[in-house]
Amino acid sequence: MSHPFEIEPSVEMNADEAALLNEMPALVGVGQSRRSFMIHSAAGGIGLFAANLLAQESALAQMPLAADAAAAPIKAQNVVKVTLQVNGAPQTLELDSRVVLLDALRERLGLTGSKKGCDQGQCGACTVLVDGKRVLSCLTLTATLEGREVTTIEGLARGDQLHPVQSAFIRHDAFQCGYCTPGQICSAVGLLGEARRGHVSHVTADVGKTTTRLTDDEIRERMSGNICRCGAYPGIVAAVQEAHSGRQTAQTWEFATETQLASVRKERGHETV
Ligand code: FES
Ligand code: FES
Repeated sequence: MSHPFEIEPSVEMNADEAALLNEMPALVGVGQSRRSFMIHSAAGGIGLFAANLLAQESALAQMPLAADAAAAPIKAQNVVKVTLQVNGAPQTLELDSRVVLLDALRERLGLTGSKKGCDQGQCGACTVLVDGKRVLSCLTLTATLEGREVTTIEGLARGDQLHPVQSAFIRHDAFQCGYCTPGQICSAVGLLGEARRGHVSHVTADVGKTTTRLTDDEIRERMSGNICRCGAYPGIVAAVQEAHSGRQTAQTWEFATETQLASVRKERGHETV
């Protein structure tokens, strides 16, 4: 019976490897045969592998389970006290100086409208307004907001009266899954303020000539920090343009009438439309 680690004689070697193997007994200096050297090397390799495995297992056994680790309270460091206005109400928070606004809003104040998409400033899902200017709350340290006014998607409507940008988003069906929508709307509200203040953008044709009138290209550029994985961009641009210009832009959908529904049902031969 062949040894389990025996190297098959049929293994092909190039000339350099064959020469090296022939010199092995001399190189290892103990006069062992080529075969026994290779067997021991292989066994040594397996032994090393087994030892590593055992070490890993013992290290893992000493680690707390993931569930326990998640349940363990995270010790706050360098705690700071911050008082700020959130959607018109004063809030005083004591938190770790590293806590970003997005986490403070969602985890401490229960305002989960602002969404965590990338958590690194690339998607815009977490956009909120600070003193009327749009910011990425995932990149804003709460400790820097002493005395500032934060407005989130929850604070835009006045009672039952939606903000004009919110109404325009609904009219233009400017969302699909809705995950990016709070950030899109806050960003659009910030954009309207920037346009009123005459800010220019990368696509402004003449930066010396201040204009507060935004073209669709301007809106696309200025909203480019807000990603929508559902691709609702045509509706988003139309909604922002409508809120900006006050002109009704073409609506992309309408409710079907009962007669239209009946005709579709008849066509499809079932009642579920
Ligand atoms: S979560 Fe803040 S930019 Fe994506
Ligand atoms: S509506 Fe789904 S990500 Fe924008």
